[in-house]
Amino acid sequence: MDLLKSQRCKAVLAVNYFGFAQDLSPFREYCSATGATLIEDNAHGFLSKDSAGELLGTRADLGITSIRKTFRLVNGAALYVSSEELSDLVPNQLDFQKSDAPKGFLLRRLSAKIQRSTSFPALSLFQFTIRMVRLLTTGSRLPRSTQESETELPTPAAPHHSVSQLIKSLNPGIEISRRQRLFKQVLNRVRNLSIEPIFEHLETGTSPYGFAFIADSNAVHQVRKQLRDLSVEVIHWPDLPDAVQVPEDHYYRNVWVVNFL
Ligand SMILES: Cc1ncc(COP(=O)(O)O)c(C=O)c1O
Repeated sequence: MDLLKSQRCKAVLAVNYFGFAQDLSPFREYCSATGATLIEDNAHGFLSKDSAGELLGTRADLGITSIRKTFRLVNGAALYVSSEELSDLVPNQLDFQKSDAPKGFLLRRLSAKIQRSTSFPALSLFQFTIRMVRLLTTGSRLPRSTQESETELPTPAAPHHSVSQLIKSLNPGIEISRRQRLFKQVLNRVRNLSIEPIFEHLETGTSPYGFAFIADSNAVHQVRKQLRDLSVEVIHWPDLPDAVQVPEDHYYRNVWVVNFL
């Protein structure tokens, strides 16, 4: 709300962190006072609803949802546009593309399946190997994100046909229950460790992206130990481009997510 006293923005982004509904009222207040466009960043919240039962990603002028973060897909996202005026600005939907999925993606999906059904840590081994190879060849364990990647579309830009197959066959209730069950299980196992959960309370319609928490590297090690048999990944968040410098003592250095993908 301090923005009202200073610079006027044309657009404001409200983030539903980790699939939990953001309270949009202060954002709406700002937008009605200034005429700014409200964009709901629902990258993490596919299928999730707020306490009034409204689907996240459809509560503002524009909404983006990154479906590929909730399901293991080659790509796939949704853009929600609330008005005809704005929809005139949006390019037509590209046709779904029936290409073969990249080999790296297929291997990752296969190893995730093995890990989930047998508890053999195939995905963890696969990821460890990829990261070690990347470290040796590029000097970084994670893919280096460049400034250009913020503005340049990856190619191919068209959605893969598996996205439309997923949407046709999806049972949202089953997926939301799976995620809620995992969330409660994880919370129970880690609540006595020296970590700080970012969200603890699930609403009926919340579809959590994962279990987000703040912890130092020792505590993360303990979390990983407690969750070993659940076949979930514990990842650092956010993965910011190199151009964004995060100081050593910034809390972003200590944000982690148990990913339910
Ligand atoms: C809050 C938030 N918004 C947007 C994005 C971008 O999503 P995508 O990588 O699918 O474009 C991310 C990615 O991690 C995110 O965490």
